Amino acid sequence: MKIAVYGANGYQGKLVLAELARHDIDIVLVGRNGARLREAATTAGTVGAEQRVADTDDHDALVAAFRGADAVINCAGPFTSSGPAVISAAIAAGCHHVDTAGEQLYTKAVFDTFAGEAERAGVTVVPSTNDGCVPGDLLAHLVAERVQPIEEITVSHFVTGGGGFSRGSLRSAVETLDAIKAGGLTYDDGDWRIGTPARHTSITLPDTPQPADVVKCPLSEVVTIPRHIAVRHVESLVDAAIAAQLDTPLTPQIIDSLPEGPTEEDRRTQRFTYLIDAVGRDGQTARGILRGHDTYGITAVIAVEAARRLVVDGAKPGVLAPAQAYDPTSFLSFLAPHGISWTITVSDTSTLQQ
Ligand SMILES: NC(=O)c1ccc[n+]([C@@H]2O[C@H](COP(=O)([O-])OP(=O)(O)OC[C@H]3O[C@@H](n4cnc5c(N)ncnc54)[C@H](OP(=O)(O)O)[C@@H]3O)[C@@H](O)[C@H]2O)c1
Repeated sequence: MKIAVYGANGYQGKLVLAELARHDIDIVLVGRNGARLREAATTAGTVGAEQRVADTDDHDALVAAFRGADAVINCAGPFTSSGPAVISAAIAAGCHHVDTAGEQLYTKAVFDTFAGEAERAGVTVVPSTNDGCVPGDLLAHLVAERVQPIEEITVSHFVTGGGGFSRGSLRSAVETLDAIKAGGLTYDDGDWRIGTPARHTSITLPDTPQPADVVKCPLSEVVTIPRHIAVRHVESLVDAAIAAQLDTPLTPQIIDSLPEGPTEEDRRTQRFTYLIDAVGRDGQTARGILRGHDTYGITAVIAVEAARRLVVDGAKPGVLAPAQAYDPTSFLSFLAPHGISWTITVSDTSTLQQ
């Protein structure tokens, strides 16, 4: 199996390279700068791997760079501006495509723009194969099987420790700041809308007596969940303390002066809890709780496994949500040895654990 990594020399790209090398998968490093690709190959321990230079404004060069690969993992953010060119080239080269994007409007645009093209080419595109969207979407599917019919699903993210965001994540946040400030999309009665006020302003975490303040935040799960779950309302929230970190104005110069991303030691100290709260139309409730650590490390594991499964197991051609492309229980179980644990509690108090 051969997998091409676009944006291979970035912080996330190098973690993906190292993860691919652990699986003994043939790698093609792709990016817009040859010197930076060579340096990344050394850092990630993939010196013998093929390297190809292609910029996102040169479609033919990108197609040539991807040709011969079974799948492309795109780690080059911000995705809103450059991601569509990479998908278009991957489809033209006959490659499956996944990416590490956390940009909600980009994820929505991928479904709106590329579904037909990918289907006709016989390839599968799964956007947002990161620490949040894949496990969140898969767990939501399992929660939804226990509450029917569903009125609302609320996804909320809480992260502690870990040394903060990578430079690339901050660049993505700056490029999409308007959507972040507006709270992003809400799914309501069959369509996605921007500017809808949140139904929830606080969420009670497990084992914590006091509710935590939350604010709306554009997570990709709002785009993916309604594709496989019949639900009236989906919104996504984040700990208000995390959102406040983006109140400080960030210029490109400030971002350039920061470290590339959290150190390995910082990543080990990070903990995240993602909650999926579902309410049935009859008032029944269910909660999925997903816990893990090291968002960037687990994103590398998830993106590689997401691409690998598309190649080995196959999935329907087109643009798919994680739960449409992968068996939810199988993929979540695969993540358990990587520190991901999950439970589902239904209001009649029965609890499933992994
Ligand atoms: N849960 C999540 O939402 C989640 C988790 C993990 C990662 N991510 C996302 O993953 C992305 C990567 O993060 P990172 O920390 O690896 O960023 P990074 O270190 O800044 O790396 C970005 C990479 O993308 C390339 N790139 C940027 N703009 C490009 C363009 N216009 N054309 C071609 N290449 C371009 C860069 O190439 P040069 O070096 O040549 O500039 C570099 O290789 C971010 O968008 C981040 O938000 C999201």
